[in-house]
Amino acid sequence: MRVLVTGARGKVGRATVAALQRAGHDTVATDLFAPDFDTQPSGTAPYVKADLTDAGEVYALVGGASVGEGPRPGPFEAVVHAGALPAPGRHAPHVVFGNNIMATFNVVEACVRWGVRRLVNISSETVPGFIFAERPFLPEYLPVDEAHPVRPQDPYALAKLFGEQLCDAAVQRSDLRCISIRPTWVQNAETYHRNLGPLLADRSRASVTGWAYIDADDLAEAIRLAVESPLPGHEVMYIAAADTIGSRDLSASWKSAYPGSTTTLRQVGRPDASGIDTGKAQKLLGWRPTRSWKDYLTLDGEPLSG
Ligand SMILES: NC(=O)c1ccc[n+]([C@@H]2O[C@H](COP(=O)([O-])OP(=O)(O)OC[C@H]3O[C@@H](n4cnc5c(N)ncnc54)[C@H](O)[C@@H]3O)[C@@H](O)[C@H]2O)c1
Repeated sequence: MRVLVTGARGKVGRATVAALQRAGHDTVATDLFAPDFDTQPSGTAPYVKADLTDAGEVYALVGGASVGEGPRPGPFEAVVHAGALPAPGRHAPHVVFGNNIMATFNVVEACVRWGVRRLVNISSETVPGFIFAERPFLPEYLPVDEAHPVRPQDPYALAKLFGEQLCDAAVQRSDLRCISIRPTWVQNAETYHRNLGPLLADRSRASVTGWAYIDADDLAEAIRLAVESPLPGHEVMYIAAADTIGSRDLSASWKSAYPGSTTTLRQVGRPDASGIDTGKAQKLLGWRPTRSWKDYLTLDGEPLSG
């Protein structure tokens, strides 16, 4: 398929472009960074610079007008939308909200108008609201799944929720099919040690998502499966690794980190099951998590030698 990946220079986008190319898809990358006009190493995905908050740039991009020179192949068959500011707290709230909601609005709108068949919208585990809440609250139950109530307070999670709602509306008014993926905390070879090391070194560290994380390449496989999926309508699904950071026992660690919490601890298939339930993605996409923090770190949080 001809697939466009937004946010392609980011952590998720890079892994996604690689996974799509490995599967043989004709993949074009786009991001805010300046293009390199010199000849690229063979196999490099074509790259187009576009600001997703600019509707004109997004229409030209999704319609195929911005890509390459000479004859134009027309609109993309599928779009993966991973371009966003990936957290609140490093820009003013209106910048996070405005960038992310307008980028998603423009991508959805261009997909509808150009007759794109599949949009994979990268949403977030933050949609239920407890991760970046100003007035903290805990999940109603663990592992969290797609049926969990959503009460976001922060500009990032609100924009992600509204982005999912834009997808709901798009499938009502067009033949576009959407899958919104809610990844948990994304890790790759460069970040495992920095991000997860401290949580391994200090076993008392709390995690409101039940010590969930996801390997970027496992996430990219889920995105690749979503691109190829024939699922109708709009489905929302979580993606997380199978285990907890540090193989913590989910139930025992939760009780110790959040004494007195009213969170219902549901039955899980393994003691170190992630605080996020990926059963829906496993069922609907045939996806399986295959990678773990153990591929990179010791139980003390140090990098594995060799
Ligand atoms: N990193 C995580 O742990 C995590 C978890 C859940 C969801 N997500 C989501 O996954 C997606 C990718 O996140 P990431 O971790 O790769 O972040 P990242 O910051 O590494 O990459 C995001 C990319 O989007 C681009 N971008 C931002 N605004 C843009 C705009 N207006 N126009 C064009 N490009 C724009 C940035 O330049 C960047 O390269 C985002 O939607 C993010 O919200 C990330």
